[in-house]
Amino acid sequence: MHLTNFASRILLVLVLIGQTLAFTDYLLKSCSQSGFCLRNRHYAREMQKARKQEAYSIDPTSIQTQDTDHSFQANILKRVPSQNGGEASGKTIVLPLFVDILDGGKVRFKINELRNSTLERGVDVINPKRYDEAYMWAFDKSANVSPADVDISTSYWPSRRDDIEIKSKDSEVSVRVHLTKFRIEIFYRGKLVLVVNDRMLLNVEHQRSLQENASQKLPEELTFNDFEDSFQYSKEDSLPFGPESVALDFTLIGINDVYGIPEHADSLRLKDTQNTEPYRLFNVDVFEYNLQAKTPMYGAIPLMIGAKPGFAAGVFWVNSADTWVDIEYDESETKTHWISEAGVIDVMIFLADNPLEVTSAYTEVTGRPQLPMISSIGYHQCRWNYNDEKDVLTVDSQMDKAGIPYDFIWLDLEYTDDKKFFTWKPDAFPNPERMLRKLWKLGRNLVTLIDPHLKINYNVSELVETSKSSVRNHDDSSYHGHCWPGESIWIDTLSSSARKVWRQLIDGFLMNYDNLHIWNDMNEPSIFSGPETTAPKDLLHGGGFEERSVHNLYGLTVHEATYEAMKESYSNKAKRPFLLTRSFFAGSQRTAATWTGDNVANWDYLHISVPMCLTNNIVGYPFIGADIAGFSGDPTPELLIRWYQAGVWYPFFRGHAHIDAERREPYLLQEPVRSIVRDIIRLRYSLLPTFYTAFHVSSINGTPIMNPLFYVHPELEGVYDIDDQFYLGQTGLLVKPVTEEGATEVSVFFPSGLFYEYESMKSFSIDKPRRITIDAPLEKLPLFIEGGTIIVRRDRYRRSSKLMANDPITLLVAPNKEGRASGKLYTDDGETFAFQTGEYIDISFDYEQGVLTSRINHKPSDGQLFASKIEKIIIAKGDAAQSSSYALLKKGSNEWMQSVEYSEESNFITIKNPHLNLQEMWSMILHG
Ligand SMILES: *[C@@H]1O[C@H](CO)[C@@H](O)[C@H](O)[C@H]1NC(C)=O
Ligand SMILES: *[C@@H]1O[C@H](CO)[C@@H](O)[C@H](O)[C@H]1NC(C)=O
Ligand SMILES: *[C@@H]1O[C@H](CO)[C@@H](O)[C@H](O)[C@H]1NC(C)=O
Repeated sequence: MHLTNFASRILLVLVLIGQTLAFTDYLLKSCSQSGFCLRNRHYAREMQKARKQEAYSIDPTSIQTQDTDHSFQANILKRVPSQNGGEASGKTIVLPLFVDILDGGKVRFKINELRNSTLERGVDVINPKRYDEAYMWAFDKSANVSPADVDISTSYWPSRRDDIEIKSKDSEVSVRVHLTKFRIEIFYRGKLVLVVNDRMLLNVEHQRSLQENASQKLPEELTFNDFEDSFQYSKEDSLPFGPESVALDFTLIGINDVYGIPEHADSLRLKDTQNTEPYRLFNVDVFEYNLQAKTPMYGAIPLMIGAKPGFAAGVFWVNSADTWVDIEYDESETKTHWISEAGVIDVMIFLADNPLEVTSAYTEVTGRPQLPMISSIGYHQCRWNYNDEKDVLTVDSQMDKAGIPYDFIWLDLEYTDDKKFFTWKPDAFPNPERMLRKLWKLGRNLVTLIDPHLKINYNVSELVETSKSSVRNHDDSSYHGHCWPGESIWIDTLSSSARKVWRQLIDGFLMNYDNLHIWNDMNEPSIFSGPETTAPKDLLHGGGFEERSVHNLYGLTVHEATYEAMKESYSNKAKRPFLLTRSFFAGSQRTAATWTGDNVANWDYLHISVPMCLTNNIVGYPFIGADIAGFSGDPTPELLIRWYQAGVWYPFFRGHAHIDAERREPYLLQEPVRSIVRDIIRLRYSLLPTFYTAFHVSSINGTPIMNPLFYVHPELEGVYDIDDQFYLGQTGLLVKPVTEEGATEVSVFFPSGLFYEYESMKSFSIDKPRRITIDAPLEKLPLFIEGGTIIVRRDRYRRSSKLMANDPITLLVAPNKEGRASGKLYTDDGETFAFQTGEYIDISFDYEQGVLTSRINHKPSDGQLFASKIEKIIIAKGDAAQSSSYALLKKGSNEWMQSVEYSEESNFITIKNPHLNLQEMWSMILHG
């Protein structure tokens, strides 16, 4: 939620003077208004033109290999010529470099600068070091990032060759570091796949004084805005270090498709930026954001993935400052240029045979996505705002009356007393405990908004101020800005003492409620009075680091502090916290869900939600959704239906609406819209076991829950730019949402194989991968099963997921052309961390030529747990002439027969009530 008073005023002014740009264009810098972006783009053009003497080289005498902590360590020297003289009179800057090969196809390198600790324009409280801690927030604490065993070819150096080769002993990766013209070549299985500093765009704007601004630069470096910021909204930036950007180029050899670097409202495949703005990563609040745009949004994950059949690479730029990325597609390669305002160059490269493995390797480092409570993957009903307890309980009971399952109801900002977080509006919510207890009767949950800004002059903000736990000005006073409550301060969750204060506040708020959860909004941070709707870059955080250096990870520190506090607060029950964050960074997947922010109820926003969610899924952050059916504005019934049909596949499934939008809770809809929406939500609930298994797989290996086609079929050339259809996890469910007004059919791309139309189980065979036009009348959601799949469902309607926990199971078997299929079921208590100590069940189902078997891979300690009955087994006929009349079931030494329901016209056969449950190993043989 957002429409800032400031922003709306500006928008109004723009409208009045006849401007046509959206307000974000005006509030946000373009590259040419951003000093370091313009300077680095200029540098890139000059370097490409000139191709002259490389300014950066490795000092051969500084090289260390065997006996260091790293595979390779040396100093890069930057030689700055004197202004009009030879090199001898110039200056040499020392930039320490290390390069490591890690296990599992990973390469990491880092370039730092040893800065003078006496800051000419500085204040004591500023830390003079370049910020080198982004990785500490981004990496999982238990990630192993120590170097692997390597062989180093020092024998060639220095007499015969200008490079050093480092080769891992146990993987297929080798790295060649060139000395006189610094560059790094990376080989995978003996082939050159990636070149670092290929175009010599390495630029470390070294520390210099104001007086040295013109003399201490390379001829290719500009001085534009290096000691001042001329952008209209950020003129007050004191830029205490002057210019300090870092930039570097990467060429991906043989790659023509790159993805990732969210968050942008753009296609899945990233676009060439030669004639446009670069993609920008800078967390900001963008109400009704622009579409097909490279402008920054609420979150930032600086991971880019390049892929082609047989190979994929990831470039992870571990930097949390304002960052711009240029992309140039060439015929046989992709050239990328990364530019960050501050910090160090810290890069992790991932190399693999396919993109799924890149995502997996990335989450091995930054942490696997959390396994959320099963209820939190049910349906969420939200609105800005449910006004009072009566309103909440009315929505709750009306959903039941209309037969629409749901699990979470949400309270936006207005539940607070005068926008003071950690309070409740007394007359509207006189007894939160009573309300929570009523919701809990059906196992339902409540989420309340808690933002990092705190209104001044009440006991919470006073505690934060007096304990020096707020974000500071650069003179060390507490920063005050404007947000929803008016004048506010911001909690500084980068500081460990502030995190303790936050924990105490959260703990006091949650009390001992079982079903109260939290939503961290506005944590970019959104500041109505700040430059570009966010914090001034010279504010200070814990450790004395500038906002400039840590900006993109601030939101992560807020939601991690909230998560830790919630976890501790629930510790006696070991409950899993549910938390939603708007701002995110690499690593956010460990603790919070997210969503695509303030969208609009129109077709373009529905359409873009799919590639946006896919992008987050491939960069390790799958627990995402878009607000259904658009946050602001009122959807038409057609748009609303299409949006639920698409949104039912978002890992995070929430209906939400702006305070000015009409009420649109599903039970309020006119028939037949209401029944259509009800059935879509019920479809989600019937597939909860399948969704939960997909979340589990993702929590083990980091793979997406919504998979683009090239993740499932990387061998196919034609799928690399498809971003309007996707697979659910590894389940074989293929979805093509309808996102066009008035459409009654859609074109769906199918790989080769046997496919089934989900509802009818009618099969069709695809010989060669191709597009097929499929009927899609309004009530129909184009959904298919790829042959070879077994789907697990719970088909009985219940009011919430908790009430379904012990419901019987239906197995849906969809064989491939060879008559085989397989599937998986993971389940646990869905609520606590007991799964971490083995309290879960993990089952494989396999089908081959009429024989279905269940194999239990893991059982909980209690044989009664998760022992749901199997009530139905449905087997699609596929292209085999399936005509069994009975099935023989075997369980241990028991054998019995079961009749098979079957008819000529039907596309499947059914075995009802086969007397089996999930805790048993069994097999079933079909007999003709
Ligand atoms: C560090 O900077 C201060 C102030 O500009 C200067 O006086 C001093 O000589 C510098 N020290 C080094 C080691 O360069
Ligand atoms: C940078 O140096 C030039 C001359 O070398 C000077 O004219 C200019 O004012 C300086 N820039 C700033 C921001 O002081
Ligand atoms: C603030 O005051 C309220 C009302 O007196 C009290 O319940 C709450 O615990 C106080 N919070 C803090 C952090 O002191």
